[in-house]
Amino acid sequence: MEKFVVHGPCTLKGEVTISGAKNAAVAILPATLLVKGKCHLENVPDISDIRAYYEILQSLGSKITFINKNEVIIDNTNVNSAIASYELTSKFRASYYLLGALLGRFDKVQISLPGGCNLGARPIDQHIKAFEKLGATVEVKSGNVYATRKEKLKGAPIFLDVVSVGATMNAILAATLAEGTTVIENVAKEPHIVDLANFLNSMGAKIKGAGTDSIRITGVSSLSQKSSYSIIPDQIETGTFMVAAAVTKGDVLIKNCIPKHMEPVTAKLIEAGATVEEFESSIRVSMNRKPSAFSLKTMPYPGFPTDMQPQMSILLCVCDGTGMIVENIWESRFQYTDELAKMGADISAHGTTAIIKGVDKLYAAPVKSHDLRAGAAMIIAGLVAEGDTEVYDISHILRGYEDICLKFSKLGANIEYVNDDTNEVNSCD
Ligand code: EPZ
Repeated sequence: MEKFVVHGPCTLKGEVTISGAKNAAVAILPATLLVKGKCHLENVPDISDIRAYYEILQSLGSKITFINKNEVIIDNTNVNSAIASYELTSKFRASYYLLGALLGRFDKVQISLPGGCNLGARPIDQHIKAFEKLGATVEVKSGNVYATRKEKLKGAPIFLDVVSVGATMNAILAATLAEGTTVIENVAKEPHIVDLANFLNSMGAKIKGAGTDSIRITGVSSLSQKSSYSIIPDQIETGTFMVAAAVTKGDVLIKNCIPKHMEPVTAKLIEAGATVEEFESSIRVSMNRKPSAFSLKTMPYPGFPTDMQPQMSILLCVCDGTGMIVENIWESRFQYTDELAKMGADISAHGTTAIIKGVDKLYAAPVKSHDLRAGAAMIIAGLVAEGDTEVYDISHILRGYEDICLKFSKLGANIEYVNDDTNEVNSCD
């Protein structure tokens, strides 16, 4: 069984460079299917969700040339299938972007219902609503989604009932090559939405308003490769290292990030007592005292990101008062609090609210990674706790963080990758 062993407590100091954004890359990779030619992508994160996407694209007929682990050329000239295997697409959530991308190119599309982090119900009704508005017929049967169109999709007005990152992305993908104009209202405004639109526009699409409440897409007949496209830095990886620097009373320069994307996280860290300095493409976070208590509510961007909620809870675990977290996006995103309680945290989580009373210190314990971001929070808790924290189910973490063990080790953390089955121990340095 694989695990990370974190020897705590420690203080993080030095510099870390952020990788490309997972939640942008998992939409841009399938978006390349809209181009009957080559797409040259840079700053692609080397994580398991992306490797899974390479496998899926190759199974559909894509030819992928790896310049290096973060730069690829994807040639979709000979893509000849729109049926992605259950085994590949059920592994993670973002496989559903294949629906929007393939509907732009084929009359019949079949993918499995997506997998992904266990955060409660993860419906796709808004994705289906968008496809049907554009003229597709969608059926969900025996664990698969079947989408068909009699002719090219037609532009239409789409009003999303829920602000949904996935449905916004999928509607953009499906409308890009549709005939006519599509206006999507009540859309998500996350940085990765803007990155997808910028990528498609660089290939000749006509998408306006990404990052605002309304996106207007004028369908084009085809897209073609222009030049290489570099994926934006990962907002959540940036935030994860910002919190780790603060809670370990460290001093870290986080490079290759976009400070503007971090505003809600920066504001909360300052409220907790951290010092945050913003530069053009880097942020410096330092802290030299116990965190002050705060409360936070997760909201769609530009509100506080739900994917930063577990990480922020570690600050409250050792704060000088009592704080509160209200989770407004997912119905079940506090499973990780049971793990923190094993480490001595004083947390009571009910439904979508967690009350956290600061304690003097956390103690090492064997803990599970319930999902990708909860797993990252367990590593941060291990950095603060006294003793050797064993973080299990690390496959969740490796889905979304490139070289996380190495990056923490370079900042002074004493962290090892251990495989109990093969007796492999890697000090990640
Ligand atoms: C994306 O998930 C991210 N995943 C999630 O990050 C993130 O937590 C989430 O957006 C919110 O920011 C990827 O981008 C791959 P949503 P997604 O559709 O698109 C409801 C991580 O750690 N909803 O914005 O699945 C839904 O139930 C992951 O990187 C519907 O009701 O999230 C939720 O309450 C975890 N019907 C809310 O909308 C739908 O058709 C937001 O979900 C779709 C969503």
